[in-house]
Amino acid sequence: MSFAVLFTFFIVAASARHAGAGASSFVPLREAAKGIERVRIGAASPASLLANATSAYAKTMAQNYDLTTAENACKWGATEKSRGKFSFDECDAVRDFAHNHNMSFRGHNLCWGHYNPDWLKTLSPSEKRTALIEHIEAVVKHYGASPVAWDVVNEAISDKECDNPWCFKASDWYPDVPDFVYAAFETARKAAPRGVKLFYNDYSIANANSAKAKRVLNLVKNLTASRVIDGVGLQMHVSRGWENQNGNSDGLIKTMEQYRQLGIEVHITEMDVKNPEPRDDAAQTKTYVAALSACLNSTACTNFETWGWEDGHTWIGTSEHPLPFDKGFLPKKAALALSEALLNA
Ligand code: G3I
Repeated sequence: MSFAVLFTFFIVAASARHAGAGASSFVPLREAAKGIERVRIGAASPASLLANATSAYAKTMAQNYDLTTAENACKWGATEKSRGKFSFDECDAVRDFAHNHNMSFRGHNLCWGHYNPDWLKTLSPSEKRTALIEHIEAVVKHYGASPVAWDVVNEAISDKECDNPWCFKASDWYPDVPDFVYAAFETARKAAPRGVKLFYNDYSIANANSAKAKRVLNLVKNLTASRVIDGVGLQMHVSRGWENQNGNSDGLIKTMEQYRQLGIEVHITEMDVKNPEPRDDAAQTKTYVAALSACLNSTACTNFETWGWEDGHTWIGTSEHPLPFDKGFLPKKAALALSEALLNA
């Protein structure tokens, strides 16, 4: 390479790192986040899309993210399809992909009231409790120190009606196993090596002023007193403009501060931002940046993660265009702005 070509390359690369975002100057999220020690930048992925590590999907993902979560592969329905017969292949594959690309692996999830195998629903309450403990022991021991964190309990608290003291929603676990949350955390704590963080994960809890967020805080305070919890996952499945509604922006900052004062961490775990036609990518971008900024500004926040990363694969439906990259894996306005926010942090 001639000196002139090398020099031009240097200038372009240097200005790409510091100039305003533009499609040609996109700095991959992972690179933009280098030097930000506290916050990992993550995305969930289906195991099937990571199977070919040389695919454009896998390569773009590893280039942009330093953490991944299996969208479904580590859930009960995938790992214990028949009672006591564990199948870890798909979940292992996501863990291996992460580690082969020097990414962290986040475990999701050990106990959820829905999407469980049919055999679980046929058990008596006391058998269910035993099955819960056996499942968590087996899965947590199999993965040992690999995950940085486990979502130990997912979505236990009701958003609406409340007919019990903690406001648990009716599910495969409640009311059959009234102490399922504590039993799950206690079992995970005993089985997990030191350093693997244990999380409660839920949706619609990012605004501290909402009724559901208050219920979750109440539950988490109780778990904190028993030292069985290390953090709270804010899923953040939201729509564009979220930060401008219902005091959400201030409410998110307050949420992080409340958990910081409790001495536990916050992960943004499953963010996506609905952006149906007529699309407003600028508004979607502002919503993503508001959440990332709140995370970067709170010492409690240690993970900023989206549920998927490109619009071609998303549980909400591709017509919502909810993710930071388009279905051709190119950065949208949201990815450009997230990169810039990371560079400027
Ligand atoms: O893989 C089977 C396929 O073989 C079958 O033909 C098809 C028919 O319905 O189902 C496929 O499985 C589906 C699976 O996603 C993979 O696409 C399940 O039915 C479907 O229930 C499952 O949905 C997942 C859902 O959790 C329930 O586990 C979504 O992908 C996943 O994005 C979603 O993730 C949840 C988080 O775990 C918790 N927070 C909310 C978030 C979004 O709902």
